[in-house]
Amino acid sequence: MHDKIKDALHQVYTGEAKAALRLKVFAQKADEEGYPQIAKLFRVIAFSEEIHGTLALRVLKEIGSTENNLNESFESETGVAQVAYDTFLKLAYELGEKGAAWLFTQNRDVEETHAGLYKKALNDLMSDRVTTYYVCSMCGFVSDGVLPDECPVCGAKKEKFVHFE
Ligand SMILES: [Fe+2]
Ligand SMILES: [Fe+2]
Repeated sequence: MHDKIKDALHQVYTGEAKAALRLKVFAQKADEEGYPQIAKLFRVIAFSEEIHGTLALRVLKEIGSTENNLNESFESETGVAQVAYDTFLKLAYELGEKGAAWLFTQNRDVEETHAGLYKKALNDLMSDRVTTYYVCSMCGFVSDGVLPDECPVCGAKKEKFVHFE
């Protein structure tokens, strides 16, 4: 595939992925403001954008086997972090941006646990271990198999966890 087309497809993938996330947040806002039909429209368009991004990834033929995908995900979490939270955090402290510093810290702390989850899943790939994941809806912390009384990262109560059976 021509490099320019590869680049265009990557832009489609990242652009559509970003749009989909933003539209989902718009939908939450519409729900909060009491517009369920508008919320639905935002969710529908977000789903449509996700299909566009997915198609671009498929045409790029960059998606390997599940074992490869676990390895790739493990490496991207352990090596260079996908988002440079430590750099952002330093910057936020220097500039006295407390809200941003809090967010960068919390995200980084959660990110640090992702690699471990992938490692565990890689080890269990053949045995197909059955587990339930619990995700803190406040900060994104993921617990494997145990519903914590409160979130170790943000302190949210266990009612705030979403269960992935
Ligand atoms: Fe991560
Ligand atoms: Fe949390």
